[in-house]
Amino acid sequence: MEELIETVAEFIVCCSKIVVFTGAGASTESGIADFRSRGGIWDKYNPEGLSFQKFLANEDSREKYWQMSTEMYESLKKARPNPVHLAIAGLEALDRLDCVITQNIDGLHQRAGNSREKIIELHGTALSVSCLSCGRKYDRDEIQKRIRNGVKVPRCDDCGGLLKPDTISFGQAMPEMETTLAYERSFASEVFIVVGSSLVVQPAAHMPLRAKQGGAKLVIINRDPTPHDEYADVVINGSAGEIMEGILRKVQEKIGN
Ligand code: APR
Repeated sequence: MEELIETVAEFIVCCSKIVVFTGAGASTESGIADFRSRGGIWDKYNPEGLSFQKFLANEDSREKYWQMSTEMYESLKKARPNPVHLAIAGLEALDRLDCVITQNIDGLHQRAGNSREKIIELHGTALSVSCLSCGRKYDRDEIQKRIRNGVKVPRCDDCGGLLKPDTISFGQAMPEMETTLAYERSFASEVFIVVGSSLVVQPAAHMPLRAKQGGAKLVIINRDPTPHDEYADVVINGSAGEIMEGILRKVQEKIGN
């Protein structure tokens, strides 16, 4: 593993356009469960019952959705950035980061110190809530207070419309600007580093391939194998926190920082 970390650090030192792409595996060391590992969220909840179409269709599905989302939000609230997030913020501080494209909705990249304009949230955020009818925005904590007080499916104060966290559910349209930007930055990248993603959900999982099409070096850091490992220049299987910390340390050594 030391040798692979050395190779990735060398990629980073030799190039300028470095894009990091994170998935739920980047936040498990912060105590937030991922989706597809044993004991993950989809072990407990059936994703089909939580699609956007189901949310719009009936009250039962909405109630189940808010139950799942409340559980995720509570673990997210307790979480702190871990060495993965701190290493990515460290790369930015060394002026070695083009952007971080994330599938995560937990806001931990911001909390670790990455600047807002360098973060592309492909699947939205769990930190705010919007009315699906009039678009009015609410602070998540305010809505959680209503849920603690017994509201099962919160509704808009202005128009009575359905409220939903600003996350992208299965079957919901992807955010246009973020998706376009992510494709562009992936294609323009020189080094593309995937951290903690199973790479099975589209269109997010296409970004590493878009980076390869643009000529980038592809690095995959994940505990388990992914369907894109065969396209990668470097694959490191293990704990993302330990590996990213090692990479940052090597980069700092190389640039004498
Ligand atoms: N270190 C390294 N890898 C890890 C760690 C860790 N500490 N913890 C988990 N992993 C790996 C797992 O092996 C798994 O392959 O992270 C991956 C997480 O995969 P998923 O749970 O599928 O999460 P993700 O790829 O982000 O899912 C994509 O699917 O459910 C939707 O919208 C949701 O954004 C999410 C999308």
